[in-house]
Amino acid sequence: MTKQSRVAVITGSNRGLGYAIAKKLGQTQGIQVIVTSRGEVEGRVAQEKLAQEGVSADYHSLDVTNEESVQAFTAWLKQMYGKVDILINNAGVNPTRQIEESSVLTVKLETMLSTFATNALAVARISQALIGLMKEQNYGRIVNISTEMASLTATPNDNYPLAPSYRLSKLGLNGVTVILAKELQETNILVNAYSPGWMQTDMGGENAPFTPEEGAETAVYLATLPEGGAQGKFFAEMRKSGGAIELNW
Ligand SMILES: NC(=O)c1ccc[n+]([C@@H]2O[C@H](COP(=O)([O-])OP(=O)(O)OC[C@H]3O[C@@H](n4cnc5c(N)ncnc54)[C@H](OP(=O)(O)O)[C@@H]3O)[C@@H](O)[C@H]2O)c1
Repeated sequence: MTKQSRVAVITGSNRGLGYAIAKKLGQTQGIQVIVTSRGEVEGRVAQEKLAQEGVSADYHSLDVTNEESVQAFTAWLKQMYGKVDILINNAGVNPTRQIEESSVLTVKLETMLSTFATNALAVARISQALIGLMKEQNYGRIVNISTEMASLTATPNDNYPLAPSYRLSKLGLNGVTVILAKELQETNILVNAYSPGWMQTDMGGENAPFTPEEGAETAVYLATLPEGGAQGKFFAEMRKSGGAIELNW
């Protein structure tokens, strides 16, 4: 890495979409990726796999729902790099496979809370921890991984599973995106969300039509936006149109 390199942190990058984003960003000229995971063994395996694919990633553990873990990660980042340029909030959970998850009338409120803690509150937590480093250099690109299932305008007519915990938690994530972007509107820190589409990951299952590599494309686009680029927007995956198209919240 050189002094000019952009430092990119990807949460939950030991597998699935997060790993694919780490790989694509790591293959982009001038970007140093930092793989993070809650399980150190899984994260180190991912780091090694990336090395075999020609990507020299750094690694540190990070459980996005654990305050101590976030603080330890932030301290390490400050000491090792003194900055962060790109933050990809990818870590997520989806408890939809449990049957009671199919209705807002039967879902356990504990499940809603824990899903919300990972998919929405943790994004606010990490932003609070890292935003100071971005403000210091007036540069930042924050990319929040959302889903079309969280679009309030699409919900009354779509055919997606009801999945109340997942959808409401991603609605929370979308809200964090809008509010944070508004708070940062006078800065060169750009905050956006996108839906990667249904992908073949542990979460998406093997019947999904797209690979995580395809889902990662829009993350790279949003992570490398020029100054004055999109702020506080919600995008569909780029492959749908060959370009970035905006979704309604
Ligand atoms: N797959 C799809 O079709 C699809 C569609 C739309 C949006 N998304 C979104 O895309 C993102 C990635 O999903 P995926 O499909 O790649 O799912 P995945 O294969 O299940 O991977 C989820 C990742 O999040 C990590 N994670 C979960 N809780 C964490 C925590 N507390 N701290 C740190 N990491 C944590 C997991 O780590 P562990 O290995 O430790 O569990 C794993 O690395 C999610 O935000 C998801 O909602 C996925």
